[in-house]
Amino acid sequence: MNTKPSILVARAVFPETIAFLQQHFDVAHNQADEIWSRPDLIARLQGKAGVLATGSERIDAELLAACPDLKLAANMAVGFNNFDLAAMTARGVLGTNTPDVLTETTADFGFALLMATARRITESEHFLRAGQWNKWAIDMFAGAEVHGSTLGILGMGRIGQGIARRGAHGFGMNVVYHNRSRLTPALEAECKARYVAKDELLQTADHLVLVLPYSAQSHHAIGAAELARMKPTATLVNIARGGIVDDVALAKALRDKRIAAAGLDVYEGEPKVHPDLLACSNVVLTPHIASATVPTRRAMAQLAADNLVGFLVNGQPLTPLNPEVLKKK
Ligand code: GLV
Repeated sequence: MNTKPSILVARAVFPETIAFLQQHFDVAHNQADEIWSRPDLIARLQGKAGVLATGSERIDAELLAACPDLKLAANMAVGFNNFDLAAMTARGVLGTNTPDVLTETTADFGFALLMATARRITESEHFLRAGQWNKWAIDMFAGAEVHGSTLGILGMGRIGQGIARRGAHGFGMNVVYHNRSRLTPALEAECKARYVAKDELLQTADHLVLVLPYSAQSHHAIGAAELARMKPTATLVNIARGGIVDDVALAKALRDKRIAAAGLDVYEGEPKVHPDLLACSNVVLTPHIASATVPTRRAMAQLAADNLVGFLVNGQPLTPLNPEVLKKK
């Protein structure tokens, strides 16, 4: 008799993750990486105690009502705006995410996007590939200085701190940040970062990097009014979530040279990208890959799998988002 709990792995993962999960669970998976409709996802979740989800699967009240056996949704992402955590808690469903294992990799990428944006790397490559490079010119793709400039960070969690350290210690940047809460003096000293009001951040940053979680409060935290406060020479980098930036307002600011350039890894309504952004040359666009190195993606998959085993087999998840569910049990 099979006594293993049943789980669903909603998207393709590494084969070793499936093999690991199969030691503990009856596993239904999606190694073909099909994009299931919502009714499909709900149908496949019937009788499942857990799901290994990604940011693409929305776990909300409607889905929970239709999947009464579900006890755990283990997100393979640090962000969890695809979870309605209040609805999950109300139904006694635990959520977990994958913090820490992706911090440094994502901070590396934030810095890479900042550099590519400030130094116009993709724009100049497109020019070269199009066969347009026929002479040297003094101002050809002259961009913004990175070293010694002012780095602004909106959202100063673990990834924001990683970006601050890279800027301050590696590039001699003057780091200012804004966050819901201030860092401890020890952390501020370690990151060489100074806390400022959001308005001062917008006005002083030469390079503004967004690393805050998405929520109703952070929706369009950067819109036309905020872009208007920024320096016309400034660059904006978003590695946080689509919806934090008003993409239409940003495309207009880029077109009008209200700010110099942007680097985006996330978009409103992704994987669709607003055509106004696609039409701008002064924006570097990447497809939500900030945590995408092989070791980090392996670590994220393993942590999500460990949360499934930790909770459904041993009653002890590693990184719970709503631990109050554990107390209720
Ligand atoms: C990626 O966007 C994540 O939240 O891990």
